[in-house]
Amino acid sequence: MILEARGITHYYKHDLALDNVDFTAKKGEFIAIVGESGGGKSTLLSILSSLLRPTLGELFFEGKAYAQIKDIDAFRQKEIGFIFQFHYLIGYLTVLENIKLAAIDKKSPYIDTLFEQCGIEAIKDKYPDEISGGQRQRAAIVRALVNAPKIIFADEPTGNLDSHNSQNIYELFKSLSQSGTTIIIATHDRNVSAYTDKIIEVTDGKIL
Ligand SMILES: Nc1ncnc2c1ncn2[C@@H]1O[C@H](COP(=O)(O)OP(=O)(O)OP(=O)(O)O)[C@@H](O)[C@H]1O
Ligand SMILES: [Mg+2]
Repeated sequence: MILEARGITHYYKHDLALDNVDFTAKKGEFIAIVGESGGGKSTLLSILSSLLRPTLGELFFEGKAYAQIKDIDAFRQKEIGFIFQFHYLIGYLTVLENIKLAAIDKKSPYIDTLFEQCGIEAIKDKYPDEISGGQRQRAAIVRALVNAPKIIFADEPTGNLDSHNSQNIYELFKSLSQSGTTIIIATHDRNVSAYTDKIIEVTDGKIL
């Protein structure tokens, strides 16, 4: 098991967002989290990826408790990739500069490969406000993948993409998962089921 969460409960102040959720992911698994708006998908992703500390519950990465990981920032940069619902590229850096900022190896040839796979090699020297929403989203995907993390978390990664580009991204995720990367995404797009190993539904803070 690469990731294991037990008894995750989360309150925002007094509002219960997650209620005693258990979750596991195996190496190379491609998992989609679906469910109604406000059901708890983003909260669960934030907790699983160590960005948000749950009110209650335990998390383990490759059997090691998150609480025991000494340098959680270095751990995140190396082992985890994030694609956020709102992608947060830095506005005064070009797309390529944004990606190099995140890259541990700035000269890695993998950067060019990813640009090509995501279909945005032509806009790499543009600034985020000079490209479309879908291109920004794909730039954020390249940035999340650049250090070849063991787990990728993505919150609505295809929210701004048409069905052709969405399928490209799902294909990319699927091929990454087949080569051992674990992929966990939150989405409203039920078409994702053609690509995933497992779908879990989160509603009212509970897994159905
Ligand atoms: N930062 C926050 N502060 C307070 N309450 C929050 C916060 N973020 C989320 N919530 C609440 O927690 C619950 C779960 O929200 P969450 O964002 O996890 O849902 P979601 O399933 O991702 O929804 P969507 O599909 O709309 O993105 C909701 O009731 C929401 O209002
Ligand atoms: Mg959400």
